[in-house]
Amino acid sequence: MSKQIRFNAFEMNCIAHQSPGLWRHPQDRSREYKDLEYWTDLAKILEKGIFDGVFLADVLGIYDVYHQSAEHALTCAVQVPVNDPLQVVPAMAAVTQHLGFGVTTSISFEHPYPFARRMSTLDHLTKGRVGWNIVTSYLASGSKNLGLSNQVSHDERYDIADEYLEVLYKLWEGSWESDAVIADKKSGIFADFHKVHPIQHKGKYFDVPGIHICEPSPQRTPVLYQAGASGRGQTFASQNAECIFIAAPSKIATKSIVKSIRQKLIENGRDPYSAKIYALLSIVTDETDQKAQRKFKEYQSYASYDGALTLLSGWSGVDFYQYQAHDKVEYIQTDAIQSLLDSYVNADPNRIWTIEEIANWIGVGGNGPVLVGSAQTVADELQQWVEDTDIDGFNLAYILAHQTFQDVVDFIVPELQKREVYPKQYSEGTLREKLFHADAHLPDWHRGANYRPQTVASLKKVV
Ligand SMILES: Cc1cc2nc3c(=O)[nH]c(=O)nc-3n(C[C@H](O)[C@H](O)[C@H](O)COP(=O)(O)O)c2cc1C
Repeated sequence: MSKQIRFNAFEMNCIAHQSPGLWRHPQDRSREYKDLEYWTDLAKILEKGIFDGVFLADVLGIYDVYHQSAEHALTCAVQVPVNDPLQVVPAMAAVTQHLGFGVTTSISFEHPYPFARRMSTLDHLTKGRVGWNIVTSYLASGSKNLGLSNQVSHDERYDIADEYLEVLYKLWEGSWESDAVIADKKSGIFADFHKVHPIQHKGKYFDVPGIHICEPSPQRTPVLYQAGASGRGQTFASQNAECIFIAAPSKIATKSIVKSIRQKLIENGRDPYSAKIYALLSIVTDETDQKAQRKFKEYQSYASYDGALTLLSGWSGVDFYQYQAHDKVEYIQTDAIQSLLDSYVNADPNRIWTIEEIANWIGVGGNGPVLVGSAQTVADELQQWVEDTDIDGFNLAYILAHQTFQDVVDFIVPELQKREVYPKQYSEGTLREKLFHADAHLPDWHRGANYRPQTVASLKKVV
């Protein structure tokens, strides 16, 4: 049987998320990101196309690495202005029944205690359809606004993330026993005081003595997503993530990242397929190959060269303003996304990129490849990608909001369904149940399960 394909939508509460300049296209709706209808319309399109979820990216800083200035970011609207991702979720949840929501927040910018409450609240309101994309944040500009004169180093950010997760597991999994809420009107007892435990966490980065302030939500711990692809990032992912987002410009690079992640999962005692891997990609499609190619050419004419290099500079931490268009791109180690330049420079030795080529590449659809063609052509290519790289699905970036997703739902989804490689309906339950056909809560083998009261009690007995 052919391998199944899953779709996620890649969005952000801003303008022209991964396609700088495309907001100028007459059919683009991303300028409406401030309106609830923008989000509710999107959610309805995606649910019609049986997308697993919408992944809301986020940054809390400005892309000011390019020319060491915020000028290009603001002029080209490169992920700025950017609104809060969590707040659009309840509106989307209210008009859908199944769509999942993968929300990005950074361990560098919010204390785990209030964050635990914000996610539990969303998990309650969505009836268990929430995921969390765990990021450590690559923009130094964000750290400065939170009072840090220097950004914490790349690897230490992951050390902090390790402890951040420990605090959250204690709050989400360990604080409230499953029968702590009695809500008995006769006796007047709402919660059994003896079954709600202060977590008493004392660590290197965080001290949290108290209880989780929310009662357990349908999933307790939201579905955990992660997108770090450096060695340290992959180790963190293999210890925590249930879904992993990757981004690379070629099949060769994608295949090598996937192989390395699956190996890391094995090294951490996990089934290599216990995490679903979604690769970033965009689709331009229409009734025929010719029409799709014409559409793509037209989209390219709106892409912004400086906008693309503003993104690339922010992601990589390297100021690309200092280079000429025909200079070759080389790997430079920074404290930003270490895996990014690696995926261009080292992963595929047969391909040498110039600055201009990367700018043109990123200008339409961001870091991932763009597949262009009729439903048949694109479906063939998607299936080939899945076969060749061992991914589980695609994290689809839009080129035109919401046109790109509407086209995917109208053309590509029915073609994949006809080939029996794409779901025809959602399964019931929470996001975790839908994704893994398992329990609403973290599986017993997961790191987070060690913090459940019964596990902690039995470990204490052994000691
Ligand atoms: C597809 C994809 C989406 C990402 N989305 C975000 C995001 O929304 N916000 C963010 O701060 N980092 C984001 N990142 C960056 C990663 O979470 C991670 O911090 C970064 O890749 C640095 O880690 P690394 O050097 O281990 O790759 C994303 C990365 C990828 C590949």
